[in-house]
Amino acid sequence: MSEKTPKPEAEDRKPFAPDSEFAAMRRENADPDEKVQPLPWFFIMFLGAMGMWGAFYIASTPSGEASAYGDQRTVSTLRPPVAAAGAVAAVDGKQIYGAKCAACHQASGLGVSGVFPPLAGAEWVLGDEKVLVSILLHGVQGEIVVKGNTYKGVMPAFGTLPDAEIAAVLSYVRSDWGNQAPPITAATVQSQREATKGQVGAYNGGAALTALKP
Ligand code: HEC
Repeated sequence: MSEKTPKPEAEDRKPFAPDSEFAAMRRENADPDEKVQPLPWFFIMFLGAMGMWGAFYIASTPSGEASAYGDQRTVSTLRPPVAAAGAVAAVDGKQIYGAKCAACHQASGLGVSGVFPPLAGAEWVLGDEKVLVSILLHGVQGEIVVKGNTYKGVMPAFGTLPDAEIAAVLSYVRSDWGNQAPPITAATVQSQREATKGQVGAYNGGAALTALKP
């Protein structure tokens, strides 16, 4: 009952007989009725701002990167750059190895028989540093002999890593699992990057790598 039955002015104040229709209307409250409650203006503005921020975030987040080897960033990429001398020391070669190489060459550096060649005691790791840097910069695809066994797989290129990270991971690889070869500096990586600028795609196996030696 949303509309009240109009009552004459005088009738209103008159006591009614307890069983009369008007007595019941005085005794009881009117039916509750739903009111429109608009959202507070600041909440609407907050929602609008969140929506706009979401659209901006989606539009500005890069999504076109190759996903073949997962997220290529390492902790040192995300870290703000440190002063030049400190930067080399801040890069942890073992950590990069765990993130980028161990899936194939294994944490033990022994590789997987017949599929991924070993790095422990491998002549390519302990030999000419320029050849080793080139392997990382451009990758290898084709026949390569490592410790007497022939492999024919695909070693991905890691040229997108900064010089300091390539130097750090190679220095690590040259010093663990009984390997004893001098570390490789970022400067060496940088000059080899310059020298092999013309290389397109991966090196064609061990023969192409041997040809790099001076
Ligand atoms: C997707 C698997 C894969 C990943 C990841 C990978 N490699 Fe390799 N790597 C190979 C394969 C396969 C070969 C042999 C290439 C061939 O057969 O032509 C190879 C060859 C090599 C060689 C020369 C052969 C030898 O055993 O000495 C070195 C050095 C090397 N990789 C180092 C690394 C380092 C350092 C990393 C990490 C930054 C890495 N690789 C990551 C698969 C991989």
